[in-house]
Amino acid sequence: LSESLKLAVAGVGNNISALLQGVQLYRRMLDEGVAEDRLPGVTRSRIGGLRVCDVDFVAAFEVDQHKVGKDLSEAILTGPNNYPLLGGPVQWQDVAVRHGIRDDAPGARRTVAEELRASGAEVLLYSLPTGLQWAAEEYARSAAEAGVAFVNCTPESIARSPEFTELFAAVGAPLVGDDLASHLGSSVLHRSLLRLFADRGITLRSSYQLNFGGNEDFRNLRERGGSKRQSKLNALAQDGVDLAAVEIIPSAGYVPQLGDHKVAMLNVEGVGWGNTPVELDLKLKVQDSSNAAGVIIDLIRIAAAARRSGITRFPAAAARVLKSPPGGHRAYGAEAIRRSELELEPFDVETSGR
Ligand SMILES: NC(=O)c1ccc[n+]([C@@H]2O[C@H](COP(=O)([O-])OP(=O)(O)OC[C@H]3O[C@@H](n4cnc5c(N)ncnc54)[C@H](O)[C@@H]3O)[C@@H](O)[C@H]2O)c1
Repeated sequence: LSESLKLAVAGVGNNISALLQGVQLYRRMLDEGVAEDRLPGVTRSRIGGLRVCDVDFVAAFEVDQHKVGKDLSEAILTGPNNYPLLGGPVQWQDVAVRHGIRDDAPGARRTVAEELRASGAEVLLYSLPTGLQWAAEEYARSAAEAGVAFVNCTPESIARSPEFTELFAAVGAPLVGDDLASHLGSSVLHRSLLRLFADRGITLRSSYQLNFGGNEDFRNLRERGGSKRQSKLNALAQDGVDLAAVEIIPSAGYVPQLGDHKVAMLNVEGVGWGNTPVELDLKLKVQDSSNAAGVIIDLIRIAAAARRSGITRFPAAAARVLKSPPGGHRAYGAEAIRRSELELEPFDVETSGR
């Protein structure tokens, strides 16, 4: 088997709780004899030889005083995190959550870089609240200083920035982002509906997407939703949709009763034959942070596999699970993705004997 992916995380919120608990749950299922291609909710059983359970958490950075100093296994269950317990106690990780980079003390970058190096991390997963461009840059520079791959879960512009692309190419580490497209989230669903209308010859007149939920992400996005709104529009821009007809509200409300659930209301209105109306209203309800973790698991494995095979340019295989990849989605046709996946394949052959 290939060696486990050594993962560092910046921000110990719901995404990390969902990721860590999911990794642990799937490890248990595999130990109990569930076949690796039968794991529920897993898109790809292996990427670069890595199974979904082949992740070791080696470092974590936070600024919330209730989380700093705790073991990662306890910090993920500390409020305001509200992702549920996935059946069973969380295993002790032996990873103490460390002080992260604050806006009033950005000098911490060097310390984070040193800690990344000392931890042996291969990938730094950036999972802070949306809207902190300065923080995304500071953590990305820390990763580059340590020669560690960087995965950006947020809409902040890092992988799309030529400056950061050059920086990561110079240090020989992959840069993956920006903004993950959730497993079955409002972006992918909205995009599919708009494409369906277009495919069936219904002329789009207007459409909107309202999202609300009861976790910190929705509380934060009420105030800092600008970059998320743009990133969600980027995700729809893939099929020549008339974006002027579309409105997106990343957080139409913080509703504590929903806990870590997200609700999306999608509306699409158009006209068909004879200029007569067609209207569609759809409600999606999902476990919000599972929806993120189901995609993060692919992004971090792609980043690690690329780093291990010495690929430093943006791995096209990541584009379909991102809202805002560098150059936009149109830059990644089926052929580019196929080639990029082939590049990661040798690991599968070497390590799994298939
Ligand atoms: N489906 C999804 O959940 C989804 C989809 C796409 C993108 N995202 C994005 O992923 C990010 C993380 O989501 P989440 O639900 O885990 O958020 P969260 O609010 O639960 O967690 C963010 C964590 O970052 C910590 N933090 C804040 N400033 C920090 C700093 N300077 N250094 C270190 N840590 C800091 C916070 O204390 C918190 O623990 C958000 O930006 C969200 O928009 C989520």
